[in-house]
Amino acid sequence: MDKIICNAQFSGLVERFFKCPESIITKCVKQTIKNNPHEKTSVFVVEVDGKQYIVKRYNVTSIKHFLKICLRGTRGWRAWQFANLLKQHRIAAIFPVAFIEKRYGPLRGRAYMVYEYLDYPKGSEYVRSLKEDSENVRLLLANTVRLIQQLKAVRLSHNDFHLGNMLIHQDKPILFDLDHMRRHVNNKFFTKAHNSDIHLFKWYLRDRPQLIKLFMESLPS
Ligand SMILES: Nc1ncnc2c1ncn2[C@@H]1O[C@H](COP(=O)(O)OP(=O)(O)OP(=O)(O)O)[C@@H](O)[C@H]1O
Ligand SMILES: [Mg+2]
Repeated sequence: MDKIICNAQFSGLVERFFKCPESIITKCVKQTIKNNPHEKTSVFVVEVDGKQYIVKRYNVTSIKHFLKICLRGTRGWRAWQFANLLKQHRIAAIFPVAFIEKRYGPLRGRAYMVYEYLDYPKGSEYVRSLKEDSENVRLLLANTVRLIQQLKAVRLSHNDFHLGNMLIHQDKPILFDLDHMRRHVNNKFFTKAHNSDIHLFKWYLRDRPQLIKLFMESLPS
């Protein structure tokens, strides 16, 4: 029996459609965002009952990879748990509709995460459309600093923290792609991971030094 966990609000939808996500991908795909079987994840936009959803599939890329995940599960399971933790702490992130994991007796296999499709611009695209001295840029960077401070308060590092993993709504970032997220007990490791999040965010803005400057000015020392 496969493992199916879903957000109570969507239980009917999951029961009717997403129990078998592979057939939904085949029948209802609207757009393939990425699908390379050699990569760890594939991402599709599907339309069900007139509404769009994102299905992120956690692929099993080799026998070696299967041996690695068959007992502990894919990164999808971790992402589901972190999405719940972020919700609990009121940290803006895309909350999934459902998580489905293939089971072969006690062994785990390929998994799927379903999200509502949010029609907001991705941070990387949004920032490209903005002038460096605009109020939107200032707000976006200040809100990103706020987000990173919220993560810090609960000792979370995202580990892929950049504008390409955020959707922007009203100049506020909404985090997604929680596959590499970690919660730290050890101070030293947390500080290192937190600084890496900041470093990666800046690195993605490397061709916009003025934005890095603004970001650093908003960051408490
Ligand atoms: N809920 C959503 N609503 C709208 N678009 C989304 C949503 N979730 C993901 N996307 C789109 O799908 C893309 C891939 O998602 P995600 O980053 O989770 O996958 P990934 O495998 O980590 O991809 P990458 O390696 O490109 O980061 C995102 O960059 C974004 O454009
Ligand atoms: Mg991503």
